[in-house]
Amino acid sequence: MVREIIQAVTSLDILLSPGEVVRLTPNELHFSNPAAYNDIYNHKNKWDKDHLLYGAFDQDTSSFGSIHYSDAKQRRDMIAPFLSRASILRMQDVIQERVNVLCDALARQFAAGDTKGKSSNLMLGFHCFGVDVIMAFCYAKNWDATKVPDFQSDIVLASKVAIRVITIRKYSRTLVKVMRHIPVWFGKNFGTPMTKAMFLFQAALMDQIDEILRNPASLENAPHKIIYHSLLDPDANKGRPLPSRLSLWHEAQALFGAGSDTIAVAATTASYHILHNPEIQQRLVNELRTAWPDLEEVPRYEVLEKLPYLTAVVKEGIRLFPGGAALPRVVPPEGATIAGTFVPGGTVVAQWFLYVLRSPTVFPDPDAFIPERWLGEDAKALEASLVSFSKGPRSCIGMNLAYCNMYLVIANIFRRFDATLDAERSGDLSVVEHFEPVFKGPHLHAYCKPVSD
Ligand code: HEM
Repeated sequence: MVREIIQAVTSLDILLSPGEVVRLTPNELHFSNPAAYNDIYNHKNKWDKDHLLYGAFDQDTSSFGSIHYSDAKQRRDMIAPFLSRASILRMQDVIQERVNVLCDALARQFAAGDTKGKSSNLMLGFHCFGVDVIMAFCYAKNWDATKVPDFQSDIVLASKVAIRVITIRKYSRTLVKVMRHIPVWFGKNFGTPMTKAMFLFQAALMDQIDEILRNPASLENAPHKIIYHSLLDPDANKGRPLPSRLSLWHEAQALFGAGSDTIAVAATTASYHILHNPEIQQRLVNELRTAWPDLEEVPRYEVLEKLPYLTAVVKEGIRLFPGGAALPRVVPPEGATIAGTFVPGGTVVAQWFLYVLRSPTVFPDPDAFIPERWLGEDAKALEASLVSFSKGPRSCIGMNLAYCNMYLVIANIFRRFDATLDAERSGDLSVVEHFEPVFKGPHLHAYCKPVSD
């Protein structure tokens, strides 16, 4: 019952018909006309985020959780160089190392089966990979979620519960406050294995922050630049006081949350469609084998991102991102016109990105996985409608890292393995909407048989 109510509240957008505007709460409007997207999420609109949803995360002083544009901008300016394309190119080996660990795990799992091999839970594998990349890239920590047998990592399983709780916290500030005041020692020792895992993880992030605040020189021992080099750089802070311990912790959690599950959903979506379409898989494998003839000589990201078909597959996977929240914004006092309708100041407005990403007028045959749409003459124009990372001043700041993860993980899986769908253990891509989409049915499973050349 509770599940149905939550689903009804969070998936109401699905019910909208074309051109409709729906009042979700007394002060919140949702639009279905794809033209509304650009009216809400564009570079000129420095609108606040809605505190009802974003307050539920209790990360108010992070880039993601800041309600006001000005606060978010200060923080984004500090983080942007760390997540820039140049930085990703420089540190791509950190990501490739995590891909290698994922591939080793897939090969081990396959070998554990009988003659047919054993299939792997790709969804959990990609989620573990996402966690390991964020931990390695941002914090220089080897969390090694990917090494846990069958990808049953506590923190990954706990994240899936936590995102469901966000939906409840959205409607209960009391719950947010109660959870904020649960002491870490209590959370680490009592409760379910899931809650314990979450507290342990949060404590690990805090311990690193404490260590660095106690001894800032320890940053120099990091094997590569980490996020705290940027956040604690006096120049990047432009004379303002350095971020507090709490703010650093908010940021650490925000980057972890924003950067791990999202990549799992995108990589699962792409793999699901590749594995269901033998012709697409064959064309992808052919391109990869030509560009990557010797298995031992793994190509750099700069090479992979120039491959047209791989690029088209990655983009189509990101376009078909199966869900996620409509991102609510507050209309400024002077009001605004959205899809031809005047909306007074103070109103909360949102559009679910699937109204653009699955619009038949923007992407013909929108539910089909058609990499070719990114290879034609119209491809450049379509880019403007690829809104999976949102648009405007609060759009995704981790896009470069997300793309690098996607290229590396898809290229490595489909070049190093003869991958086939395990239809018996796999469901479809239908999701329950929380802030991030949560797959309803059995996760995507595939037999990943290593190739020898
Ligand atoms: C395929 C993967 C990803 C997708 C589809 C995605 C999508 C998005 C979207 C739609 C937003 C806007 C959220 C909002 O308005 O509240 C966002 C924001 C954000 N993303 Fe991503 N993201 C991905 C990967 C990443 C990665 C790898 C990172 C890096 C750590 C990251 C960090 C962030 C941050 C910090 C924000 C908040 C920006 C702000 O509010 O100003 N994301 N992302």
